[in-house]
Amino acid sequence: MELGIIAGSGIYAMQGFHIKEEREIVTPFGEPSDRYRIVEIEGIVTAFLNRHGPSHIIPPHMINYRANIWGFKELGVERIISISAVGGIADNMNPGDIVLPDQIIDITSGRSSTFYDGPEVVHIDFTEPYCLEMRDAIIKAGLKAGVLLIDKGTYICTNGPRLESRAEIKAYRALGAHVVGMTGMPEACLSRELGLCFAGLSVITNYAAGIGKARLTTTEVLETMRGSTSRLKSLLKEACLLIPQKRSCACKDVLKEAKMSD
Ligand code: HPA
Repeated sequence: MELGIIAGSGIYAMQGFHIKEEREIVTPFGEPSDRYRIVEIEGIVTAFLNRHGPSHIIPPHMINYRANIWGFKELGVERIISISAVGGIADNMNPGDIVLPDQIIDITSGRSSTFYDGPEVVHIDFTEPYCLEMRDAIIKAGLKAGVLLIDKGTYICTNGPRLESRAEIKAYRALGAHVVGMTGMPEACLSRELGLCFAGLSVITNYAAGIGKARLTTTEVLETMRGSTSRLKSLLKEACLLIPQKRSCACKDVLKEAKMSD
């Protein structure tokens, strides 16, 4: 299995890709959100997971992130693309845009965000939270597929499930955040802990609170997400062809210099 895709609000079964097989996996951390659907994209065998479960029943703060990421590892996946809905904070971030974030700020709480709760003590390097090799390939895929991508941005991850207040968004903007979502963490750091490459594709579904004039609605989120499906699919097809099969990035070796205990 070469690639894993996590999808969220609005793009559940990645309509149009032929499902070859469904795999149910139980992990030492419990059950993943859903079955993994095995699809072939441009000849690349890909495992696809709905983050929010069948028919969107798991809210962001209740997702078993550890089981979801572990399940990918168990399937032999080495690289994950995580698709998510976000609110746009920065001036150049508008609904419908697709962002490939390069940095992340985590302000979630109460989530199990490590596989190392002791006695093994591990501090992974997270200077670059997203795989640089995957980011490069996805930027090229965007150009090749003719899909406009905002190729960097800082994703701030809130706990949810509520949306933010105007003052919170103002504060996050001052912190340097460009988009806000609820699921980017701990997906990114758990993947790193297992030596998996991880890239995010964030679809801006709305202006974050207080940025636009309108009140935020989930209808807006789902409709904008659905409106981006065909662009995401074109992008994924090209990305599958362009992401190198052999990894030359640092992600796989991260544990070599991360263990405190013997
Ligand atoms: N805030 C947090 N998460 C989100 C938003 C938002 O405005 N839109 C989509 N996911």
